[in-house]
Order: sequence, then C-alpha cells, then structure tokens
Amino acid sequence: MNTIITNARALTLDGPAGPRRGKAMSNLAIKERVDIVIRGEWIVSIGESLTIGPGDRMIDARGNIVMPGLVDCHTHACFAGSRIDEWEKKLAGATYQEIMAAGGGIMSTVKATRAASRAELSASLASRLSRMLSLGSTTVEVKSGYGLTAKGEAHMLDAISDVQLAQRHTKRRSLPNLIETALLGHAIDPDMDDFVHRTIHDTLPAISKAHPGIAVDAFCEKGSWSQQECWELFNRAKALGHPIRVHTDQFTSLGMTPAAASLGARSCDHLEASTPADLAALAASDTIGVALPCCGFHLDGRYAKLRTLIDSGGAAAVATNFNPGSAPCPSMPFALCLAVRHCGLTPAEAIIAGTVNAAAVLGLSDRGVIAPGKRADLLILNNKDWRSLVYEFGAPVVSKVLIGGEELSVD
Ligand code: NIG
Repeated sequence: MNTIITNARALTLDGPAGPRRGKAMSNLAIKERVDIVIRGEWIVSIGESLTIGPGDRMIDARGNIVMPGLVDCHTHACFAGSRIDEWEKKLAGATYQEIMAAGGGIMSTVKATRAASRAELSASLASRLSRMLSLGSTTVEVKSGYGLTAKGEAHMLDAISDVQLAQRHTKRRSLPNLIETALLGHAIDPDMDDFVHRTIHDTLPAISKAHPGIAVDAFCEKGSWSQQECWELFNRAKALGHPIRVHTDQFTSLGMTPAAASLGARSCDHLEASTPADLAALAASDTIGVALPCCGFHLDGRYAKLRTLIDSGGAAAVATNFNPGSAPCPSMPFALCLAVRHCGLTPAEAIIAGTVNAAAVLGLSDRGVIAPGKRADLLILNNKDWRSLVYEFGAPVVSKVLIGGEELSVD
C-alpha cells in the first residue's frame, strides 16, 4: 500500500547532492500541483496525476505547501533543572559569562542533570521533542554535555538512546528522529583536577567505545575550552573515527573557526563574534556555518553574519540551540524567522538552512529534499505561500507532519 499526497505545491529542494553553498542556497525547485507517492518510509515518485491504486491512502494537500521536514541540527534538549532564576538575574544586568563564572550557567545544569535519573532525563527529553515535532522538526540532534565526566556523559547518551529506541520499537511513533552528539568539551568542571586531560584520555575513549562514530563537539570560548585544548580533543576524536563539530566565536573569536575548518569539522556553530577572516576561512572550506539566532534573541542581540558567509560562497544552516540557558526555544520556524531578520538570509535561503543543509551538518543525505529515494519526512503547511513559514512568526503554520511516511498527531 502506498501513501499519496495529492495536490501539493511542493518545495522539493531537489538539486545536487550535499549541502548547498552560495547562490545555490536560493533554489527551492518548486513543483506546482504534484502528487507525491510514498512506500514505507521512502518517497518513490513525484509528478503530475500519478496513478492511484486500490488501497492507496490519500492525503489531499489542497494546493498547500508540502516541504521536507525541518532538521534541528543543534540542540541541548536533554537536561534537568531550570535556569529561570538566572534569567531574571540576566534581565537585571548580569551577563551569561558572569553567571557562568560564578558557578551558574552550564555548571548549574550539569549538577541538576547528573542528579537526575536516566528515566527522568528521557521522559523530559521526550516531552520537549513532542513540542518540537508539533512545530515541524522531523529530525532533531541532541547533545550530551551536561554530564562532563565519562559516567555523566554516558548517563546522558543512554537517556537519549532510550528515547530513540522506544520510538524504533513502538507501533505508532510520536517523536522526531534523533541524532546524538557527544559534547565532551562543553565546560571545564572546576571540581575536577586535570579535567581537560581526563576528558581527552578517559572520557573520549569510553564514549568512543560505546558510541562508535558519534560526532564529538566542544565549546571553544574564554572560560571554557581553549583552542589548543579543542585541537587536542579533536585530533584524538578524529583518529578514533569521529566527525567533529565545534561551538566557535559565540562571544570571542579565538581562531577556532579557521582551525576547525582546517581539521575538516562538519560544522562551526554560533559565529556571533566571527571576524571577516573567520567567515572567509569558513566559506573557503567544506565546514558548514550554523547560526543559532535564538541566542541573540534571548541573550544580547548579537547574530551570526550568514549573509557574508553565503555571499562568499559558503554553506549555512540554522538551528534552535534549544537549551535551558542561552536559548530556551523549541521552534525551528522561529529560529528561521530570526535568521531572516537578523542573519541576513532570504526566506528561500532560510528554508535550505533548516532542511537539506542542516541534514548535511548531521551527515545525513537521505532527507531534507523531496525526491525519489529520500525519506518521507514531510510537512504540509496550512498555507499556499511557502514564505509564511518565516513570515508569520509565532503562528502555527504546520498542519500535518509525516515521518517515514507515517502521519503523526501534532495537536
Ligand atoms: O550553544 N554555549 C554553549 N552551549 C550552549 C548553551 C548551553 C547552556 O547555557 O546550558 C549554547 O549556547
């Protein structure tokens, strides 16, 4: 039995394999009034007036936009505790970094997350993921990074895996696809001697054994991991077969963006403080620049200059960065709205940044595009104008979500 979406105005984003760069980030390859045939989890054909067989299930898009599901390629959605009190301190004038230096910030979430049980972590993650799904995210990356020790990081990755496995084994899935990232260098634990050395020589090998091939990430910033420390962690991780991602230039340009590009990192994320030279090095590399504009909205009004990156021929993606401190936001459409208003993206570039390019950040080439052979992870919008996704900020624009051909409830 096939599922057929009829009468679709499809943003296929069909084009060359891999992330889109420069001018190619503007091509949405729109097809008017088409039917999309899905078998199992996959798209098998797209065209006009395809034959509908007996027993085929039909979903009438009524001329509305059908587009690839959104891919949220940078989140810290697995955590315990709350930082709403800290947020009030921020409103009263304290900076994110001052709070972190006083033992709050990331370390306060580390304490709460270490103390939470695996079941508590996976239950709260599942409830956040369900909200993200209703906003159109069909694939979500979730980082560890609030455990820091080998035991703490494994605890988080186990909780994330539990949610993933439960979805795989349920008859009726209700959550997005999950991709885990090991954020081993998220902070420096002040209570542990030789923390960086232990992370590189104890935590990394332990996580590598349990999660072969998982992407390894770090936060390169004053008061967190230095460029030299990141360099050592990443070289070891690469030698063990792990792709690299890195939080660079959030508050300070420390030279990590060109260094990460030369290491062949999958992505440099944040980029609010990137210099023209940082962006030029990124644009000249295969590393994708990921903007996290919910941070600028929530913290300090600074945003990544993606316009410069794209005009220099680079590839850009956008993510929510959902976390309890710098970006408590589950909404990809809102992140994309912000990227249009503050990072200089056109609406078309924002769609590419939140789908096919975000999938490439996660090493995924089977989604983010509507074409035969791709996953049937799709959104039907309640609108015939695709720009509504990045125009009507705060409004519910997604009317149906399909993951692997299965229609999920988004109420
Ligand atoms: O990407 N900057 C580092 N990590 C996160 C924030 C995490 C937190 O504040 O808990 C980020 O913004």
